[in-house]
Amino acid sequence: MQGAQNPYDAVAYPRLAFSDTHPDRLATMAILHGLSPAPVDRCRVLEVACNEGANLIPMAYAIPASEFVGFDLARLPIERGQERIRALGLKNIRIFAADLLEVGAELGEFDYIIAHGFYSWVPAPVRERLLVLCSELLAPNGIAFVSYNTLPGGLVRDAIREIMLYRIDGTEHLEKQVGGALELVHFLLASRSEGDAYRRLMEEHLKKIEERTAPATFHDELSEAFHTVSFTGFMRHAQQNGLQYLCEAALPPPPDPCYRQEIRSAMEAMAPGNIIAQEQMLDFARARKFRETLLCRADREMRRDYPPESFRRLQLASPATSAQGDAPGAMIFTLPGGIKMEANHPGAVALMLALERAWPRGLGFEEIEPRLAGTGLSLDASGATMLMRMAVAKFVELHAWRPRLPAGMPERPRASAASRQEIRAHSQGVTLLHSMVKLDDAVAQKFFLLLDGTRDRGALLEALAGEFPEIPREELGKQLEPSLQYFYGAGFIEA
Ligand SMILES: C[S@@+](CC[C@H](N)C(=O)[O-])C[C@H]1O[C@@H](n2cnc3c(N)ncnc32)[C@H](O)[C@@H]1O
Repeated sequence: MQGAQNPYDAVAYPRLAFSDTHPDRLATMAILHGLSPAPVDRCRVLEVACNEGANLIPMAYAIPASEFVGFDLARLPIERGQERIRALGLKNIRIFAADLLEVGAELGEFDYIIAHGFYSWVPAPVRERLLVLCSELLAPNGIAFVSYNTLPGGLVRDAIREIMLYRIDGTEHLEKQVGGALELVHFLLASRSEGDAYRRLMEEHLKKIEERTAPATFHDELSEAFHTVSFTGFMRHAQQNGLQYLCEAALPPPPDPCYRQEIRSAMEAMAPGNIIAQEQMLDFARARKFRETLLCRADREMRRDYPPESFRRLQLASPATSAQGDAPGAMIFTLPGGIKMEANHPGAVALMLALERAWPRGLGFEEIEPRLAGTGLSLDASGATMLMRMAVAKFVELHAWRPRLPAGMPERPRASAASRQEIRAHSQGVTLLHSMVKLDDAVAQKFFLLLDGTRDRGALLEALAGEFPEIPREELGKQLEPSLQYFYGAGFIEA
């Protein structure tokens, strides 16, 4: 497409971190299924096709006693990542340029293997090798994460890609033709009446494409290899390599058909005990486009009923804030995105209030249980069901690991060095909880960079006023505490 040059060397891929790929997420889902994954703070993680390490470097920084290995075919992104690692002085991560077809047992065994944005974008022999590698390198209790475009929803993406490929002519750099190709898709769709089903379906996906940058669209939609696979097809491939289906990295959202008892029962009647067939039927119902599938070795025995005792092995956390509800004893909890939940069960209220006080840290069960005494919430089957519902609604986060977050704001706050390095270069940083946060405002960016652990509030204000003499000191002073609290709540401030 761009001569012999590797397209990821020619056009930089966006630097993104994915919380669903974090070993904490993989371990949490494994524990919920009754498995015993390696502890996140002492594990080995491999990322296949790590590009410049935007996902792997913040993980390595946040989990210093674990070891991280990543490789990618594209040399230039790897060099940029190696430079970042050197500058941070990290000793627990190694990334290198290599073709997946040429790596193997010399890398050793891994507790977690991540391949995000890879399977659907590489030719068949590379896809084949990916699953062979997982089967060769995964530890007995290891978990692999593989994402891919799936059917039937992926067909919409395929259709848009076809139109875009039809429009581009290969005479100049493809990323420069993305805009023109998208215009053609819009033009063709606009020829149909508003509200037309085909138009609506295509425009919905088009909107998602247009939220991304031209280089991302160039790589993600116009890649030479583009493989959309059914869940059954993917799982057949995984099973041929001695791997079995654990679950998806994220719990399905609340409206998912899998939570409707009549649908579940019908699926069970059609395909008794066959999770693959049931998930496939659900995908047809969901019009699913993308999967983030977790796999483990075929000989591991797991449970699919979320055993209550597995919650005891997890930490709970919640970013929700509380307010008094209308009914006596009821409280309203609001997530940062604005979604609200009214709770009147004394146990749920006590739990949520305890988690609100602890945020951004989580609490283990030994810390939570005493606060639930006498509230009627305990970890029997019905308590576990309630917790699961709150987790599905995202009011409760489940974790298998405790990041190095302080209990309260330190006197001299220090934002993680990895995030300061990113904010300095690209104005977006990854928190210790592995979420990406964009900081567009110049004052906020400068303030963030001052959080290196050497300054108390007075010194912070002094330094900021020196940087922005045109802004009245009083105004800067008013913003200081809310900004600190924001960075603390986001999970940037280290213990
Ligand atoms: C769509 S990007 C995804 C990058 C990253 N995993 C992410 O999700 O942000 C695909 C990556 O696969 C890499 N890649 C393609 N073929 C490869 C191969 N045979 N061996 C190793 N990496 C490869 C590319 O260089 C590119 O960085």
